[in-house]
Amino acid sequence: MATTAGDADSLGEVADGLVASRAGRIVFAGPVKAAPALEAAKVVDCAGRWITPGLVDCHTHLVYAGDRSHEFELRLAGTSYEEIARAGGGIAFTVGRTRAASDAELRAASLRRLDAMLAAGVTTVEIKSGYGLSLDAEIKQLRVARSLGELRRVNVRVSFLGAHTRPPECADADAYIDALCSEMLPVVAGQRLADAVDAFCESIGFTPAQTRRVFSAAAAHGLPVKLHADQLSNLGGGALAAEFGALSADHLEYADESSIAALARAGCVAVMLPGAFYFTRQTQRPPIDRLRAHGVPMAIATDCNPGTSPLTSPLLALNMAATLFRMTVCECLLGVTRHAARALGLADELGTLEVGKACDLAIWDIERPAELVCAIGANPLHARVWRGE
Ligand code: NIG
Ligand code: FE
Repeated sequence: MATTAGDADSLGEVADGLVASRAGRIVFAGPVKAAPALEAAKVVDCAGRWITPGLVDCHTHLVYAGDRSHEFELRLAGTSYEEIARAGGGIAFTVGRTRAASDAELRAASLRRLDAMLAAGVTTVEIKSGYGLSLDAEIKQLRVARSLGELRRVNVRVSFLGAHTRPPECADADAYIDALCSEMLPVVAGQRLADAVDAFCESIGFTPAQTRRVFSAAAAHGLPVKLHADQLSNLGGGALAAEFGALSADHLEYADESSIAALARAGCVAVMLPGAFYFTRQTQRPPIDRLRAHGVPMAIATDCNPGTSPLTSPLLALNMAATLFRMTVCECLLGVTRHAARALGLADELGTLEVGKACDLAIWDIERPAELVCAIGANPLHARVWRGE
């Protein structure tokens, strides 16, 4: 069995399916009996297992050093994520640890998380910076992120998240944004260290006006943008992302109707991050019904990070999206394949089993696709194929 393209409410399931590849690209995907005569150097019988596109985790912060389990304990005792952040913990804590880590230490810590994702069927992962917040430390994080794609058989897309939070040594957020736009971004773009630019538009992040400046600078350097939008409050982040033609607007718990309509018009992907919702015990669910009604494509990602979502299992993210957000099995599976690829600007390359796309596959020991979403903490991955091998 194989799931091929799929549309809004179908996975495009194919019984007795065959996927053929040449030089890492799919040359056929469909029913065996419809396949042209192909001379294959190697034939693999999947023995009735299910083949899906390799999973795309389109929102992670997996390159960081240190651990924040002490903050988890504080939160269990009643302190909020924002309170911890305002007291100098949170992202700033991880910034300290990440700045202090050597390249090798940062790489080793990150590889452990990446390997867990690969073992769960991930073939493409997006990785953000944002725990450096100085030119040198951001570059270190971006380079380590890129290097992971050379050390493992996985596509890595890197996003520059220098606008994650105000660095501890900088009292003036506007001055930091000035430096980010005039000093950091030119280097990041010039050295091709990032494929996109992200920002955290929030009371504990940056204002819409500051985000707008980051996005304008990104556009001037020809880099697409994404946004952590409306996660903890409604600052109109969804509409702002749409205005700049962002690849995606992520989180969106507090997004209002006008933001959702704008996202739909702009063709932005809404990235749902149920791990962060769960782990921070948020109560405001993202407006799934309205996103659905407006036809906004929804992706699902782990948001792997030490503070709000220490999660490396994309399948567990799907289970949470279904259980906590009431997303359907089909939405969940498209959310970690087709729509996730689109959230990275890779819709033509990845995310479905279609001729011409990269032959990145996950082969599962399951009877039905719903098992991938239903099970909690199981890993039915049989094999992972990356670029045809
Ligand atoms: O996606 N929202 C901002 N960034 C992360 C949290 C990062 C952290 O707490 O270390 C997020 O939730
Ligand atoms: Fe995030």
